[in-house]
This record gives sequence, structure tokens and C-alpha cells, in this order.
Amino acid sequence: MKPQVNRRRFLGVATTVAATGALTGAASAAPAATQAPKIIGVACSPRKGRTTAQAVQAALDAAKAAGSGIETELVDLGDLDMVGWKGKDQPADDFTPLLAKFRDPAVGGLIIGSPSYFRSMSSLCKAFIERCAPLRAPEMLLADKPLGVVAVGGSRNGGQELVISQIQTAMLSFGMIPVGGHAPAFQGGTLVSARDSIREDESGLHTARMTGKRLGEIVLAHLPPPA
Ligand SMILES: Cc1cc2nc3c(=O)[nH]c(=O)nc-3n(C[C@H](O)[C@H](O)[C@H](O)COP(=O)(O)O)c2cc1C
Repeated sequence: MKPQVNRRRFLGVATTVAATGALTGAASAAPAATQAPKIIGVACSPRKGRTTAQAVQAALDAAKAAGSGIETELVDLGDLDMVGWKGKDQPADDFTPLLAKFRDPAVGGLIIGSPSYFRSMSSLCKAFIERCAPLRAPEMLLADKPLGVVAVGGSRNGGQELVISQIQTAMLSFGMIPVGGHAPAFQGGTLVSARDSIREDESGLHTARMTGKRLGEIVLAHLPPPA
């Protein structure tokens, strides 16, 4: 029994070191030592402030509680008038001024939340990801930063894990490193809205918090040492 425990511990450490190497290898991706690391949560429901925004906020609160010095900000796309990518002559809309927030070198990680719409991410979430295209070129500004994802559905097994997977896959195009949460939230936050509320979904809220907590810990663990 003992060797197994040791092996498990060894593998855990090895995994952490491997992840650390991947993250610290990108010095340009880490916030400068003097800046407080910031985690931005993006709520991608067209309904501002509703269950998706609440789930993202729960994850952000847990990320902030993971250690001192983390700043968080919720960007709720709910009431924005915005479209997806339209090419180089993108017309200005409500999202245009928000892009600068994601260019900030203090950004240490993102938490993206989407409702499950027909077992897929919302069109608003896809529009957001497309509009982040300028963060990929000429520089991969989000590369090597951790990504947590939460999804809310109206039913259990309503596609939440598929939505998380879709968002993680899309953000791989930005070089982000998708991370799950602490147990039992290995894939991310999966919540069920009942009667338009997630307040009673304690186990779902727990997965959002475990996702935020792990993201916060990872962001803190990969800060460059103070000069
Ligand atoms: C167009 C549409 C499609 C939906 N499809 C699903 C679905 O496939 N699975 C599911 O569990 N819930 C589905 N729902 C329910 C939403 O995911 C759920 O109400 C969610 O809490 C909405 O997020 P919000 O409160 O942040 O707006 C759908 C809702 C809409 C409006």
C-alpha cells in the first residue's frame, strides 16, 4: 500500500512540475512582478446578471480567496450589442472598448462561462471568442495563461460538459492552458438552473468554486519571483 501512496504522490508532484514548467516557460505571459495578478471572468449569457454571470462570479470569488493579491473582474456580456468577427474592417460596437482589458499584462488567467444552448456554447460566447482574434496576432497575448470554464444548463446532463469542452478547444487556439477544478470539478463548473436560479444547486456551485479556487492557485503559483 505504501509504495502506491508514494507513487501517487510522486505523480502528483511530477504533474505539478510539468504544468509549472509549461506555465513559467512563457515569461512574457506572466504578469510583471510588481503587478497584482488579475483574473477576468466572462459571462456569455445574453441575459445580464443571471445564472451564468452568478456562476462565473462564484468562481471568481473562490479564485480571489485562493490567496492574497489576486484581483478579479467580471465582464458580463449580457447587455452588450456585439457581433462576431467581421474581418479587418470590424465595425465598432459595445465590445470594441472592452478588448483592451484582455491585453493587460496583469491578466493571469480567464474564467469563461456560458449557458448550454442546445448542448453548445451560446452564440454570444462564440462571438466573444471570435472577437478576441486580435489577441492572437501579431502576438499570442493569452498564451500559457490558465483557463477555467463554467457552464449552466436548465437540466442535469444538459450539455454542460460539452460546452466546457467546446470553449476549452476554442481557447487552445489562443495557446491558453485549460485547467479543470479541484475534485469533483475535474472538467470545470457544471451547474443546473432550476426555476431560473442556481441558488439551490449547491453541488453545482461547489464545482464553480473548485474551478475558481484551482485557477487562483495556479495563477499565484506561477507569478515571477519579486525582483
Ligand atoms: C435557446 C436555448 C437553448 C437551451 N438549450 C439547453 C440545453 O441544450 N441544455 C440545457 O440544459 N439547458 C438549455 N437551455 C437552458 C439554459 O441553459 C439555462 O436556462 C441557463 O441557466 C441560462 O443561463 P442564464 O440564466 O445565464 O441566461 C436552453 C435555453 C435556451 C434559451
